[in-house]
Amino acid sequence: MQLCVGQVARAEQFWPRDTEINRIWDSVESGGHILIAAPRRVGKTSVMYKIYDEPRDGYVVAFVDVESADNEHEFWHKLFNTLTSETFISQTHRYTAKLVTSLRELAGKVKKVSTSGIEFGDGETLDYAAAFEKFVTELQIDKKLIIMVDEFAQAVENIIKYQSKEKAESFLRTARSLRQNPKILEKVTFIYAGSIGLEGVVARIGATKSINDLNSIKIPPLVFEDAFVFTRALCKEIEEDDEAITYLLEKIEWLIPFYIQLIIQETNKEMLTRESIDRAITTALAHKNHFEHWKSKLKEAFEPTGYNFAKEILNVMSDKHTIKSSAITNLISKHNLDHDIAKEIVHTLVYDGYINNNDDPKTYRFNSPILRMWWYNNVAN
Ligand SMILES: Nc1ncnc2c1ncn2[C@@H]1O[C@H](COP(=O)(O)OP(=O)(O)OP(=O)(O)O)[C@@H](O)[C@H]1O
Ligand SMILES: [Mg+2]
Repeated sequence: MQLCVGQVARAEQFWPRDTEINRIWDSVESGGHILIAAPRRVGKTSVMYKIYDEPRDGYVVAFVDVESADNEHEFWHKLFNTLTSETFISQTHRYTAKLVTSLRELAGKVKKVSTSGIEFGDGETLDYAAAFEKFVTELQIDKKLIIMVDEFAQAVENIIKYQSKEKAESFLRTARSLRQNPKILEKVTFIYAGSIGLEGVVARIGATKSINDLNSIKIPPLVFEDAFVFTRALCKEIEEDDEAITYLLEKIEWLIPFYIQLIIQETNKEMLTRESIDRAITTALAHKNHFEHWKSKLKEAFEPTGYNFAKEILNVMSDKHTIKSSAITNLISKHNLDHDIAKEIVHTLVYDGYINNNDDPKTYRFNSPILRMWWYNNVAN
């Protein structure tokens, strides 16, 4: 195993996630469209790339990251660009030559992705949905095309922010009807993922129905035994023993591969001991870029009052380790928030991987003690 901290883990760097990957493939094979659901940094994009790099027979996979799409036009621009890009077309060569020819032909026909739709070479301009349908209908494919859309929820959130809530609703409705369109369904499967929960974003604009056809597949943290073997594999050049690895994993607690990679990297190849692990955690916490997004994403997601409410819950929890639902209720009154909106915010904190109430429904705590420490040092104080 090679260390990989922050980038997508591919090839030698990828620790097997067979259960999740098989679940995704099984769902694809039974004809469903999928939402890969997991909080930030759990390993969604790495799982998607594994599917992209090693597709099952009968499938061709396209990957598009739409995080920077600020409006509907940019979303479609990215999607059409990917499907007509030479990088994508030439990689499909290893599966089917017919598809390459067909994609090249279609790429030649798509003249321009404009703000009002897609201009085709024959002078026809169609709106995005109709153009996508035309594209797929004309595509000569004897395999099924999987279109993986990473950071889909971020694109929806951007549309809400830079265009309007109504535009986002109609965008989501269009995406749903395309997924249900028999001509498309026959040839294309969509897999969405994203670091902010799509459920939370659509719930905030009352559009939950627009994604209720998606089969949600969770990527959980590693279980202790798996994390143990993973850590040992990462410590190729580092002296370790069972006790030190156990200590490390108990400290990390929320066993996502990222935190294990980060702390191992920060030990700087020193032998694993309680002292070197504690030192590595302290150094890791100084890397602002590994943690800052946990704060900035909340600021983007909520109105100022909602953000202050969420921040205060996390501030209290970072200090006291837990917070009771009764204390959260007091904070709702203090911030003068509508009860349903406040409930949705707490739900987002759970869904997006900040907190859980697994041990007791009335008590919330951080998933990750590492994030708790960072929050305590950098946000709460
Ligand atoms: N299967 C894996 N094997 C090894 N390391 C992994 C694996 N999955 C995730 N990681 C670690 O976690 C980091 C984040 O992975 P990845 O980018 O796939 O997560 P993500 O869920 O897409 O994150 P984000 O929510 O920020 O988009 C990687 O840089 C790597 O350190
Ligand atoms: Mg990702």
